[in-house]
Amino acid sequence: MEFSDELLASLRDARHIAVFTGAGVSAESGIPTFRDALTGLWENYDASTLASPEGFAADPALVWGWYEWRRTRVLRAEPNPAHYAIAALAADCPRLTLITQNVDDLHERAGSADPIRLHGSLHHPRCSACEAPYRLPPGIPDKPEGGRRVDPPRCARCGAPVRPRVVWLGENLPQAAWDAARQAAEACDLMFSIGTSALVWPAAQLPALVARRGATVVQVNPAETALDGHAGYNLRGAAGKVMPLLLQALRRSRP
Ligand code: APR
Repeated sequence: MEFSDELLASLRDARHIAVFTGAGVSAESGIPTFRDALTGLWENYDASTLASPEGFAADPALVWGWYEWRRTRVLRAEPNPAHYAIAALAADCPRLTLITQNVDDLHERAGSADPIRLHGSLHHPRCSACEAPYRLPPGIPDKPEGGRRVDPPRCARCGAPVRPRVVWLGENLPQAAWDAARQAAEACDLMFSIGTSALVWPAAQLPALVARRGATVVQVNPAETALDGHAGYNLRGAAGKVMPLLLQALRRSRP
């Protein structure tokens, strides 16, 4: 894959790079997107049943079972070359801010410290009432095959059921994460938008905001997205292929 001299120069000159990621960055680790995961055991369910406060109130064991199933898949997965290349890129520019819509922990496991998490995490549940953190038992949950429902644990402080610390339908993004992401979008010289359909708002505003400021947007995606018209560079391909090649080309291009 060839990268233009202009793109490599923009990367070399950038003082602050923002990297915005979505489900596509974890696809090569075998983590299905929310929609793709609604198959097999889960094919008769929809997002409002499994990922909304109303769905959780109606059937906490079903919703907790769904998130434990997803968390188990993530714990069995490994970061892929895209996660590693993004972590390594941080050493190649003065400042890098990673913003993710993903709820898995593969960026951290690849070495990216403290990504801004716009949609929360599968790995840090909290009480559904008093919000106290709940510490999950270590290791990979061992569930009976074919089982869907798992009773959520109870909060040690107030006894209410524990829920995943993820952003559900109708819920606001965590304010501090959103503020930090917007600040990065307003300050960066260049933003990567990697593996996201850039359709789910407000997160999808971020690359559009960068483009409006006249800063560079580099999209990495095998498919067309709503962002194509805004991106200065559309690198068509799988993130696990494109990102390591781009990092290599950037390093080679340094004097
Ligand atoms: N490399 C890069 N991009 C890929 C790859 C890959 N190997 N495989 C798929 N993609 C792209 C797809 O072409 C698509 O554009 O990843 C994108 C995934 O889009 P979505 O499934 O819409 O995921 P995302 O943009 O992260 O969704 C945002 O929606 O489901 C909710 O809250 C959930 O955070 C999620 C949000």
